[in-house]
Amino acid sequence: MSSSEEALVPDLSKRMFLNYALLCTASLPVIQMMFTYSRFFFPVSSGNPDETVARDIEGNEIKKEDFIKTRKPGTRELVQGPKGDPHYLIISEDGELRPYSLDAVCTHLGCVVPWEAGENQFICHCHGSHYDSTGKVVRGPAPLSLALAHVDVNENGNIVLKTWKEKDFRTDSDPWWK
Ligand code: FES
Repeated sequence: MSSSEEALVPDLSKRMFLNYALLCTASLPVIQMMFTYSRFFFPVSSGNPDETVARDIEGNEIKKEDFIKTRKPGTRELVQGPKGDPHYLIISEDGELRPYSLDAVCTHLGCVVPWEAGENQFICHCHGSHYDSTGKVVRGPAPLSLALAHVDVNENGNIVLKTWKEKDFRTDSDPWWK
């Protein structure tokens, strides 16, 4: 910096330093938010391509014990599952976590299907498809039932969703999503 600039703006170097410090401080929360947000769309793999740690909307891993303790029987709650798709975890009426989850993506044109507790069904608001409480399609235009994934717990107590390769227990047919 030239001495003429110093003369025109008193404490210029000090001001510049404070501006940089302010910029860095303000950037940190933004970077952290962007990182958390991006993790929702790019799930962190456990190393096994057939296995995904379930995450909540903030990208945090979900402990099975915490999940069960803080939800009512009959709950169906969306979490981030395989391929980043929203999946329903289900608490049975006896308070246990069901051993399967449902991919919430409608098999018609891909809307996320909400759970309608009053109807005891998943009902897609886009074009009116209905799925029963196990995700089996009971009214079109959706051509197929909601995809299944196994629900398990890893060594850290976190819920993991695993690829369902066996027959679909609802239709006794091979899984269409394999
Ligand atoms: Fe669900 Fe069309 S996208 S019925």
